[in-house]
Amino acid sequence: MVPSTAVPVAVNIDGRMHGRDDALVSVFDHGFLFGEGVYEVLRTYGQRPFLFSEHMQRLRASAARLALDCPLSDEAMLDRVRETVAAAHLDGDAYVRILLTRGVGEIVYDPAACPTPTVVIIVKPHVEPPPSARAQGVRVALATVVRNLPGSVDPAIKSNNLLNNALAMQQAYREGAFEALMKNHRGELCECAQSNIFFVREGRVLTPPIDAGLLVGVTRGFVLQLAATLRVPAEERVLREEDLASMSEAFLTSTTREIVPVVQIGPYLIGRGVPGPVTGRLVDAFAAAIPSRLA
Ligand code: PDD
Repeated sequence: MVPSTAVPVAVNIDGRMHGRDDALVSVFDHGFLFGEGVYEVLRTYGQRPFLFSEHMQRLRASAARLALDCPLSDEAMLDRVRETVAAAHLDGDAYVRILLTRGVGEIVYDPAACPTPTVVIIVKPHVEPPPSARAQGVRVALATVVRNLPGSVDPAIKSNNLLNNALAMQQAYREGAFEALMKNHRGELCECAQSNIFFVREGRVLTPPIDAGLLVGVTRGFVLQLAATLRVPAEERVLREEDLASMSEAFLTSTTREIVPVVQIGPYLIGRGVPGPVTGRLVDAFAAAIPSRLA
């Protein structure tokens, strides 16, 4: 699917604003040549970015793992995001993708070949999950693709190198599922291709630990804070496929999806196959907390 030309888009490349057709990066950018770059996806409510400093913190942490420096301060990046959001002239909320790559240089792995990193900000309309997803819950495929070994391209790095995720999602598309849940190299449940996974069992919220080798989702952290505020017991727990049959609820979390109930994973029906009450309480608490976390 080619992005529709009817959808408003603004792209900022190294401080310059572009439209859809002239938003071009050099083929000598190491982001293109080697997948050498990191990214963030954030969203706005209205014009205001949500959990902005948390996303910047993770962008810097991801970049540091590649010995890459983000050339902008948080304030400068926020200004640039705001300018790009304004330039997109959207009616509603914005999807904001920030990409930071090694930059343009000779085709060698030496970082010294690329003196200046490339900073791209893509803004387009935010797309809500379909209303049926929140109301009835979604089905998630149990992916055969294994999440990257942390000793390889560590999933904690929000890397532009997304082939592993793309392969898992291909399976979800084939199965008509909303997402794909991956296991790690030890066979433990890990995370989905584009979101983190949570469960509820005996009133306790459970989510795989960071040590499972996952992206430490900004939404995941926010939901764990909400659970603490609501005094719902929540913990990181090593979970396996055998555990799925005993879960009463499941949900996934991400910036673009917030909280989406999961009612089936592979062949396993979760609880009674409908969104559960703990998920509902967290969804409500999430909505109530948004205004306090806008930049
Ligand atoms: N995806 N795990 C993976 C592999 C992800 O790609 C994402 C986010 C998450 C959730 O992270 P957060 O809560 O910080 O959005 C977990 C974004 C939205 C994306 O790539 O579009």
